[in-house]
Amino acid sequence: MTEAELYTVYKGIYISNYFHTAQSLKYFNEFSFRPDDIIIATYPKSGTTWTQEIVPLIISGGDPASVETLPCWERVPFLEGTNASVYNLEDMPSPRVFSTHFLYDMMPPSFFEVKPRVINVMRNPKDVFTSAFHYSGMAAHMVNPGPQSEFLQKFLEGKVTYGSWFNHVKSWLNAEGNVMHISYEEMIMDLKDSVTRLALFLRKSLDEETIEKIADRCIFKNMKLNKMSNYSMFVPGHMDMTKSEFLRKGIAGDWKNQLTPAEAEYFDTVYKDKMKDVKYTFKWE
Ligand code: A3P
Repeated sequence: MTEAELYTVYKGIYISNYFHTAQSLKYFNEFSFRPDDIIIATYPKSGTTWTQEIVPLIISGGDPASVETLPCWERVPFLEGTNASVYNLEDMPSPRVFSTHFLYDMMPPSFFEVKPRVINVMRNPKDVFTSAFHYSGMAAHMVNPGPQSEFLQKFLEGKVTYGSWFNHVKSWLNAEGNVMHISYEEMIMDLKDSVTRLALFLRKSLDEETIEKIADRCIFKNMKLNKMSNYSMFVPGHMDMTKSEFLRKGIAGDWKNQLTPAEAEYFDTVYKDKMKDVKYTFKWE
C-alpha cells in the first residue's frame, strides 16, 4: 500500500493512520502534564523500546513487576497514539512515563507550561535507516520500503513517518527545560554507566547491585526474551516476525552490512550538510 493509503500528513510530516486518529491527536493536544512526568522522546528505531524497559526499572528500584506484566506500549504509552486515551492516564500514579515520536515543537501547550522531564534518545541515522528498512518490510501499518535506494531517498528527504531524522534530532537538541540527551551508542558501549546516568537524572538513588541487575535485564539477549517487550504480544498478524523481528539485531554499526559504499558516502554528504550548524558531539561521529 502507498503513503496516500496508510499515512496522513499532520503538521507537515507523515503519521500512520493506524497509530493516530483525529481523536487521538485531540487527546494529545489537550493532555495535562504533571511536573514529575517523564517523557521518552525518540525518532523511531532509536532505542524507544529499550528505554521503555530501563526507565520503569529505575523508577521501581529494580522491581521487575511492571516490565513482566505490562506490554511496553501500555507501560510507557505513546501520548499521541490511539491507545493513550483508553489507558486512563489521569489515574496513573506518579511518576508517569510516556513516549513520543513527535518533534519538540509539536508538543501540546501543557508541556511548555509544566516542563516535565524529557529523556531524548538518539541513534546513528545510518543505523536508524537500517532498522527502519527492516521494520517497514514487516509491519502492516508501514509502507513497504521497496528497493533500498528508493527508501534511502525517502528517508533522507523525510518522506517517512515522523518526518526527517535531521529535523527531529535538531528539534529535541534545541528543546528548553529539563532534558537529558543520550544515545543508543552510549547505551551499547556501557549500559551500566547509562543506567547510572539515567537514574541520576531521574533523582533515583540506586545501589551498585540494583544498577547491575537492571543493566543485565536490559541487555539485548535478555530483553529479547521478555514477551512484554519484544512485540510478540502485539495485535496478531500485524507484524511478520518471520521477515524481521522487532528486536532484530541490537547492535551499533549494522549499516555497514546494509548500505553500499556509494550509499554510505551519499548519506554522509547529506548528513554533513544538514547537520553543519549543530554543535552537539554525537557518539557515532
Ligand atoms: P535493530 O533493528 O537495529 O536491531 P525502537 O524501539 O525505537 O523502535 O528501536 C528499535 C531498535 O532498538 C531495534 O534495532 C531493536 O533491536 C533495538 N533494541 C531494542 N531493545 C534493545 C536492547 N535491549 N539492546 C539493544 N538494542 C535494542
